[in-house]
Amino acid sequence: MRKTAPPRTYRVESFGCQMNVYDGQRMAEMLAEQGILAAPDGNDADLVVLNTCHIRERAAEKIYSRIGRLTKGKDEPPLIAVAGCVAQAEGEEIMHRAPAVSMVVGPQAYHRLPSMLERAVAGIRSTDTDMPPIAKFDALPARRKSAPSAFLTVQEGCDKFCTYCVVPYTRGAEISRPFPDLLNEAERLVDGGAREITLLGQNVNAWTGDDGLGRAIGLAGLIHALAKIPDLLRIRYTTSHPADMDDALVAAHGEIEKLMPYLHLPVQSGSNRVLKAMNRSHTVETYLKLLDRFRSVRPDIALSGDFIVGFPGESEAEFEETLALVDTVGYAAAFSFKYSPRPGTPAATMDGQIAAEVMDDRLQRLQAHLNRDQFAFNEASVGKTCDVLVERKGKLPGQWLGKSPWLQSVHFTGDAAIGDMVTTQLVEALGNSLSGRLVEPAYSRSSPSPK
Ligand code: SAH
Ligand code: SF4
Ligand code: F3S
Repeated sequence: MRKTAPPRTYRVESFGCQMNVYDGQRMAEMLAEQGILAAPDGNDADLVVLNTCHIRERAAEKIYSRIGRLTKGKDEPPLIAVAGCVAQAEGEEIMHRAPAVSMVVGPQAYHRLPSMLERAVAGIRSTDTDMPPIAKFDALPARRKSAPSAFLTVQEGCDKFCTYCVVPYTRGAEISRPFPDLLNEAERLVDGGAREITLLGQNVNAWTGDDGLGRAIGLAGLIHALAKIPDLLRIRYTTSHPADMDDALVAAHGEIEKLMPYLHLPVQSGSNRVLKAMNRSHTVETYLKLLDRFRSVRPDIALSGDFIVGFPGESEAEFEETLALVDTVGYAAAFSFKYSPRPGTPAATMDGQIAAEVMDDRLQRLQAHLNRDQFAFNEASVGKTCDVLVERKGKLPGQWLGKSPWLQSVHFTGDAAIGDMVTTQLVEALGNSLSGRLVEPAYSRSSPSPK
């Protein structure tokens, strides 16, 4: 690799889950701290960070083709860093296959990106896939400006080892960030304009900490503390694992007004045999009981889940059990995936891998049920009056887009600005969104507080 001038502009491209997006934002903040500017949309950047995800098929291939497009025919190709979960899983391979890449950095090591960049400018390629717990967060710059709805990673990693999943390998063991750090970062986010914070973790409800008075608290305790931040109006959290749910978190949904009535609780399958083969530690029955407990404290709670079709050995009858579970729950939203064998996971070498056509057919049938229920949920919301946090402009003049408490996209026209909390009446359910009518303009406006 040749020496090159220090980059003046950067772009971070994030391909993964919400935590991957959070990591992407933190990397962008670090680069900005170095005086590097975000490249305007549509413009080439001197430094491109590909923040990758390893959960789906062909993740690595897509990255190689992106690298090809970034460099092909360019006299001065950008410096390229590959970050995220593919970097963790295939770091050496990337270095070997893609000479255009000068930095490979795993999701627990990206705080070292600035020093790797210095080396890259001097013509030295480097890989860092260490997993030092917490160190990353301590090394990141303080948060300054924030969108109305912000992410905050509170817990990272996974000890669950579902047999299909790479996350325990790419993100490492479960760790909880310390309570004071989280309180501080949340306050900074709110100072910077955030009105809603979504607490993130691969198993967010496994978060534990010390409240500063020597008492052990769980996620509910953290939410109670964050709810005291005056200008923070909404709190959400994702993703929970059924095995880590405690009474306090269920109760919190009945106690804390700022905690939004929404629960994303992946179930994966409606067959107990498949759940066991997946190493999911819950059954259909324990999962349904858990949902009942949430509904008893918060009857309007919107439920969401993740599903995998075509896990090795899944029979037609077992798949139909998933459809039956969906029909029982009535999800407001859901993510559904075809099983994808991930190298190194136990399920990848299990007998009974399912043919692609069978998976396609099952996914279509499952999505027909899920879409039907999502639409029914939106239809049932028509007529309700609710708060909407305005996140961006809509396509039409004077139109705004935001989220309802149940995480539905709502658009309306009228006097508003990004960061406003307004009251709307929901008037019509469309495919993936609702249209609303402005009832009361902003009662809270999220302009960053003057410093
Ligand atoms: N506990 C994390 C899981 C992240 S992965 C969380 O829930 O956020 C998100 C979803 O991807 C999982 O719930 C699962 O439905 C799906 N998934 C993970 N590995 C998969 C695989 N090998 N094939 C298909 N879907 C998978
Ligand atoms: Fe993956 Fe299971 Fe851990 Fe979720 S709980 S990250 S699906 S191993
Ligand atoms: Fe993907 Fe890593 Fe998230 S594999 S889903 S970016 S934890």
